[in-house]
Amino acid sequence: MSAVLLDGKMLAARREEETLQRVNALKARGIEPGLAFILVGEDPASKVYVRSKNKACERCGIRSVTCHLPEDVTQEELERELKKLADDPSVHGMLLQLPIPRHLDEAAALACIPPEKDVDGFHPVNAGNLVNGIPGIRSCTPLGIMDLIALSGVKTEGKHAVVIGRSAIVGKPAALLLLEANCTVTICHSRTVDLAKYTREADILVSAVGKAGLITGDMVKPGAVVIDAGIARVDGKVVGDVDRQSVEPIAGFLSPVPGGCGPMTIAELMVNTLNIAEAKANV
Ligand code: GUN
Repeated sequence: MSAVLLDGKMLAARREEETLQRVNALKARGIEPGLAFILVGEDPASKVYVRSKNKACERCGIRSVTCHLPEDVTQEELERELKKLADDPSVHGMLLQLPIPRHLDEAAALACIPPEKDVDGFHPVNAGNLVNGIPGIRSCTPLGIMDLIALSGVKTEGKHAVVIGRSAIVGKPAALLLLEANCTVTICHSRTVDLAKYTREADILVSAVGKAGLITGDMVKPGAVVIDAGIARVDGKVVGDVDRQSVEPIAGFLSPVPGGCGPMTIAELMVNTLNIAEAKANV
């Protein structure tokens, strides 16, 4: 038996179609959702990501603006631009593409994005709401991971979920969403001793490291749901953490890279933007 592939491209297209319908309903009420991207410097991967997100906005009928600042922008200039967008009522969501150049203070820059416009769910208020189980804006990749698990049809309640990676963007919020979905959650990271001991116990395995070939078939419980949220480049090709050749015959479900978490992250960004615009329209 070979794992059923969890088709993130197909699911993302479905989410975007639903988003477009809701955007059109909002537009009929005279409100156009708007999303602003702030890109600093010329990092090729960041430019590709922002372009992909812009294209998704086009598909969903969301107005997008990109503020592209030079590599040597000062902290003061960056914060001035962020505050301008924060005060612009036509901008419902804001996203500072990370990483930003090292001379800049990332935390201080992110703090200029008001929590109610923080489509990434990175603001301490939104991160704190997640910890406390208070409704709010959740991070896009973890939302996409949960959507892919739901696509598998496997019920989360009582399952042992193992998350590898403890980043604030993916690992930690994904672990909290799995906890909210009544999983028993283990978080592994770079200092975990005997990683395979934990992964073999996982009914749901989420790997968010960015190390090609990290997860091999002998580390996977037969029938498990394996979500590959890693991204790395090998010989110019985008690959995930999972060694597909050895994992596919063991896992029950597998989200591929590319075509798994990547498109889902972008689709959830569209949904988050629309949710913010709808909430503002209904107050
Ligand atoms: N860089 C890599 N992933 C992301 C993301 O999800 N959001 C932002 N803002 N930057 C990123």
